[in-house]
Amino acid sequence: MYQIIDGKKISQQIKDELKEKVAALKAQGKTITLAVIQVGSDPASGVYVGNKKKACAYIGIESRAYELPEETTQEELLQLVAQLNADETVGGILVQLPLPGHISEDKVLLAIDPKKDVDGFHPVNVGNLSIGRPGFVSCTPAGVIQLLKRSGIEIQGKECVVLGRSNIVGKPMAMLLLRENGTVTVCHSRTKNLKEITKRADILVVAVGKPKFVTGDYVKEGAVVIDVGIHRNADNRLCGDVDFDSVAPHTSAITPVPGGVGPMTVAMLMYNCVEGGAKNACNQRIL
Ligand code: GUN
Repeated sequence: MYQIIDGKKISQQIKDELKEKVAALKAQGKTITLAVIQVGSDPASGVYVGNKKKACAYIGIESRAYELPEETTQEELLQLVAQLNADETVGGILVQLPLPGHISEDKVLLAIDPKKDVDGFHPVNVGNLSIGRPGFVSCTPAGVIQLLKRSGIEIQGKECVVLGRSNIVGKPMAMLLLRENGTVTVCHSRTKNLKEITKRADILVVAVGKPKFVTGDYVKEGAVVIDVGIHRNADNRLCGDVDFDSVAPHTSAITPVPGGVGPMTVAMLMYNCVEGGAKNACNQRIL
């Protein structure tokens, strides 16, 4: 029988730990503030931003919302980022993606002060992660590490296969697994003999962005499978990149969708806000 890794429960534990920490900081007169910028009214972004604000309220982080119209120019957005960079009362800055097509995401993400980059997207933080220096770590892959650690799954010495090579998930995921002494392989859409490689995995992290892409024949018996995908199917139900029903019986542990990786992203964002705010410096020692 396989274990279902409960991201809802683990994310709640992390949020409760952070809540205590924030209360202690408040008692010393320190407040943590996150600025959240959303441009336009993409409905999915609205839901994500709402979840982030709710988590801030629960933990005791002050969130400042900047809801800008779709027509906002790149220059106006860069000006707001510069103003928040200079504002000493703001500890973290988050620009919700995707941005409207007329704004360069790259330019905007580069403009965020790396010391306030709680998403961990700035090249300085990405570089720091890759050479083992302190810095903010991208929230979703950091959340996957926490799911594994808090479920008692050892990474050291394991064959870890990451399916997907995005800047936000696949690449930092590989770096983090490597930091935990896993033996890491990254696969992607051009990989030949994909199943042969995924079947080697003791720990398989799937972030390909294709609904139910990974089926039982991709997985070694007893593997741990982490599903980063989230999709809405024709009858409005959520599913991941993994075909849960076909894969789960082959695993020793697996994350569900919803209730697996998803809630961890917000919890780790909160972690980044608290750690950055508490020490006034980047810190990637995760809990
Ligand atoms: N859009 C989808 N996921 C994310 C995320 O983790 N951070 C930001 N800033 N935008 C996103």
